[in-house]
Amino acid sequence: KKVIFSGMQATGIITLGNYIGALKNWVSLHEQYNCLFSVVDMHSITVRHNPAELRKRSRDLLTLYIAAGLDPEKNIIYYQSHVPAHAELAWILNCYTYMGELNRMTQYKEKSQKHEDNINAGLFTYPILMAADILLYQTDVVPVGNDQKQHLELARDIATRFNNIYGDVFKIPEPYFGKVGARVMSLQDPTKKMSKSDENTNAFISLLDEPDVIMKKVKRAVTDSDREIRYSEDKAGVKNLIDIYSAMTGMGIESAVANFEGKGYGDLKKEVGEAIVEGLRPLQTRFKELSADKEYINQVIKNNGEKASYLANKTLRKVKKKIGYPE
Ligand code: TYM
Repeated sequence: KKVIFSGMQATGIITLGNYIGALKNWVSLHEQYNCLFSVVDMHSITVRHNPAELRKRSRDLLTLYIAAGLDPEKNIIYYQSHVPAHAELAWILNCYTYMGELNRMTQYKEKSQKHEDNINAGLFTYPILMAADILLYQTDVVPVGNDQKQHLELARDIATRFNNIYGDVFKIPEPYFGKVGARVMSLQDPTKKMSKSDENTNAFISLLDEPDVIMKKVKRAVTDSDREIRYSEDKAGVKNLIDIYSAMTGMGIESAVANFEGKGYGDLKKEVGEAIVEGLRPLQTRFKELSADKEYINQVIKNNGEKASYLANKTLRKVKKKIGYPE
């Protein structure tokens, strides 16, 4: 079986963008692959954070992975910080990555503008840790949203460079983007991606939002001043709602558009809201049940962390040997 690796940050409750762009695809792929899904808590400290919150959010995120349908018996669902090999390989790969490459990362540029008072080295080398995450497990496929494309290309470049020097150490990973929803847009500004760190909470739907909150946020979504429901780049708000509808119902774009023929924006928003509420309902119910079962979650964290360590150390040992660390 081929290997899938992906991860999410626990900087807040994840959004519908994270769900449609990543988590939902993980669920649809996870039967055919050997999968590792990580809560990347080491990445989360590249911006200032509250320790108690990070602890809680990391646990909630890990629980959400399971609630969404990922089976921790068949997949490895774990905390990045529980596997020290990530940090070790990241250090080594630091020495095989050029400043120029990191300087070109658009996410770094955006984040350093946003966090001007804390442009730390970790924020800069963030993509190297991400490369280490992926390369440690000899990953074939990385299912992510569009915004991670550049980071993934860098991971491939680093792996190729390393292999060119030392022989075949790393598998070169391929990205996987979903058919729809690889980029879910903000409900308040459909030219921007939906982000959990948006100051305006109406801009995103959190996976744990109550049904009435979801309906309200969709109702307030920014569209445009005409009234025609068309799927087109020049109608970013409407297009985004149709994309979300299609992703949540599994209906193709054409049938989704046909479904809204002759209807108005009010109907569109109502139906999209309902599709989200219904789509998330099983996950939300399961999340509540799982959160109450502390023992079960603790056991998953322990077992799966050990499984991940075992696999990661295999690659790490090989790397250390290749670069000449004493045995
Ligand atoms: P993060 O935590 O920002 O996002 C997690 C996943 O959600 C996707 N995503 C979106 N997809 C569609 N529309 C959106 N509006 C949207 N917002 C986010 C992201 O593309 C991602 O797939 N650096 C990564 C985490 C990471 C990782 C890894 C991912 C660390 N190591 C190794 C894959 C492999 C990040 O910050 O994602």
